[in-house]
Amino acid sequence: MSRRRQIYEGKAKILYEGPEPGTLIQYFKDDATAFNAQKKGMIQGKGVINNRISEYVFTRLGHIGVPTHFIRRLNMREQLIRQVEIIPIEVVVRNVAAGSISKRLGIAEGEPLPHTLLEYYYKDDALGDPLIAEEHIACFGWASNEEMQDMAAMSIRVNDFLSGIFASINIRLVDFKLEYGRIWDGDFSRVILADEISPDGCRLWDMTTGEKLDKDRFRRDMGGESEAYREVARRLGLLQDDNGSDDSDPDGRGTGTISDLSKHRKLRGK
Ligand code: TMP
Ligand code: ASP
Repeated sequence: MSRRRQIYEGKAKILYEGPEPGTLIQYFKDDATAFNAQKKGMIQGKGVINNRISEYVFTRLGHIGVPTHFIRRLNMREQLIRQVEIIPIEVVVRNVAAGSISKRLGIAEGEPLPHTLLEYYYKDDALGDPLIAEEHIACFGWASNEEMQDMAAMSIRVNDFLSGIFASINIRLVDFKLEYGRIWDGDFSRVILADEISPDGCRLWDMTTGEKLDKDRFRRDMGGESEAYREVARRLGLLQDDNGSDDSDPDGRGTGTISDLSKHRKLRGK
């Protein structure tokens, strides 16, 4: 692979300079972290699956008019994206109580919320991504009022659309995290959806069994995380069925198609 200039390395992805100004290449690693990187590990094949799931989700969101940074998938682990100025806020959308809200407010996990809740967290690992109010965002100028309105409206649309997509494959979209970025056109800017949407940043529960198909398997030492991520991809129709043949690209670093991955899967979805 040719040497490219690395722009940034995050916990699950690396950003490289893109082929044209205003573009970047987003590389998906298998590295997994939780609790603001206090827990570190690896989920075999995660990068390949997340690249594919995120491509699928962003493409479909694009079809309904949600602007995103996604341009196209380049290979198993990389996608071409628009360079944005990341807004340092994580927008968490919750439909059902789980994770930190259950802990913070003492609501049983699995309790449906009276209505969809938007929460904002300040993106700063050293501070542990603290929960913030809209007033903090305005006070410190992290986003303008107009940008906040755009992000909130887009997040609700993303939630409605994705809840439907996942429901159609018998998965409950419990909650998820979104990140937005600014793109500039002269003196004007607008916000577009950035980062990724994958089982790393969503809670996805099987609607029948309640089985967790997301990063909580890693956070809670449940095991079976690779299989869970693959199961989501398989239900979305992104993986072909196993045929038991050998695999020419086990690490998924090459430029093969996603179907290469399914060839070395031993474990089939239920
Ligand atoms: P939480 O319950 O831990 O606040 O997480 C809510 C959702 O947001 C969950 O689907 C996981 C996702 N999330 C991230 O993707 N990154 C993060 O840093 C945090 C805190 C949550
Ligand atoms: N992504 C965050 C971290 O690495 C938090 C999480 O997903 O639990 O630490």
